[in-house]
Amino acid sequence: MKDQIEKVAQWIVHSKRVVVFAGAGLSTESGIPDFRSPGGVWDRYNPEDFYFQNFMASEASREKYWQMATEMYEPMKKAQPNPAHLAIADLERLGKLDCIITQNVDGLHHKAGNSEEKILELHGTAMHVACMQCHKRYDREKVQQRWRNGEKAPRCGDCGGPLKPATISFGQSMPERETEESYQRSSACDLFIVIGSSLVVQPAASMPLVAKRNGAKLVIINRDPTSFDDTADMTIHGQAGPIMAGILENVKKELGAQE
Ligand code: APR
Repeated sequence: MKDQIEKVAQWIVHSKRVVVFAGAGLSTESGIPDFRSPGGVWDRYNPEDFYFQNFMASEASREKYWQMATEMYEPMKKAQPNPAHLAIADLERLGKLDCIITQNVDGLHHKAGNSEEKILELHGTAMHVACMQCHKRYDREKVQQRWRNGEKAPRCGDCGGPLKPATISFGQSMPERETEESYQRSSACDLFIVIGSSLVVQPAASMPLVAKRNGAKLVIINRDPTSFDDTADMTIHGQAGPIMAGILENVKKELGAQE
């Protein structure tokens, strides 16, 4: 693995446009469970209860949704970036990051210090709430306080529409700007690094292929094998935190050597 880490660091140093693609595996070392590993979110909840159509269908299903969303939000609110998040923030400071395409809704890239314009939240964010009717946005914690005070399916103060955490649920339309920009940057990059994703959810999972088809090198850092491993130029199976910390250390060494 040491050789692989040194190799990826060299690729980063010699690349012009490095895109990082993040999944839930990036945040497990911050105490947030992923979705498809044993003990993950989909072990505890039925994904169908999260379908957008269900949410819009009835007050009862919205209350159920908010109950589950609250159980997921509380650990996220307290979570801190881990060494993998911090390494990505350092890559930005070193001028070696084009953008982060993230499936994560936990806001940890922001907490780690990456700048807003570099973060493309493909699946939205759990740190805000949106009205499903007038699209007004609210701070999550303020609405969560209303939930704690008994509003089990909060409504918009302006139009009375149902409020929902600003995450993209199955069956909900993808965010236009973030999706469009993610495709553009995936096709324009020369190095695409996947960190902590099973790469099974579309359209996000098509981004690594877009990058590869446009000539980029593809690196996959994931604890378990993925169906894209054979397509990748490098796969490193292990914990994202120590691997990304090792890659950053080598990038700094290489850049230092170049000065
Ligand atoms: N380091 C590296 N990889 C890890 C770590 C870790 N510390 N912890 C978990 N993993 C890997 C697992 O092996 C798994 O393959 O991260 C992957 C996480 O995969 P999923 O749980 O499927 O998460 P993700 O790919 O982000 O899911 C995509 O699915 O449910 C929806 O909207 C949700 O954004 C999510 C999307």
